[in-house]
Amino acid sequence: MHFSHYVLGLVASASAIDVYFHNSGDCSGAAAVCTNLNPNDCCTGNSPTLAYRGVPTNWHINAQGYSGGGCGSPKWLADLNGRTWVCMTVNSRDNYTGSRYWFVSRRRAEENTCKESVKPDTLVLADGITKYDIVGLDDAKVDELLAIAGSGVGPEGMPEELQVRRK
Ligand SMILES: *[C@@H]1O[C@H](CO)[C@@H](O)[C@H](O)[C@H]1NC(C)=O
Repeated sequence: MHFSHYVLGLVASASAIDVYFHNSGDCSGAAAVCTNLNPNDCCTGNSPTLAYRGVPTNWHINAQGYSGGGCGSPKWLADLNGRTWVCMTVNSRDNYTGSRYWFVSRRRAEENTCKESVKPDTLVLADGITKYDIVGLDDAKVDELLAIAGSGVGPEGMPEELQVRRK
């Protein structure tokens, strides 16, 4: 139980892992983002590349990218131990549709199961600065907005209806 307690302490004090579904081939540009993703929660989306950012350097985690719908079939496994970010790139499998991470431990592997599914809460434009709250929008809408944002436009290029959601 020491491990669980330790992990909870870390999560409470410093959880800041953000997962980016990038509408590009190289983890650049616009993205739909799950902000502060908790361990084992599955962040769902649909994009060719996927990045983890803001990983505390004193955490040792494994991050798994999936294709085939949600956290369906494993596509990319990253080991982060001192690195703040990783880009999961394009390979022979379909788009990334989900991702989750867990703390690396030699014990209690049975806890490594997907707990909950969460959707991206933020859309960030290619400028990396302009952000919109996308909580509650349906998946098709988010895909549509990400496609527009993926062309590299600034806030003036986004639909008017989004203005009230600007962060
Ligand atoms: C893959 O992701 C891109 C960008 O989000 C999207 O335009 C495309 O339709 C997706 N492909 C599939 C097969 O869903």
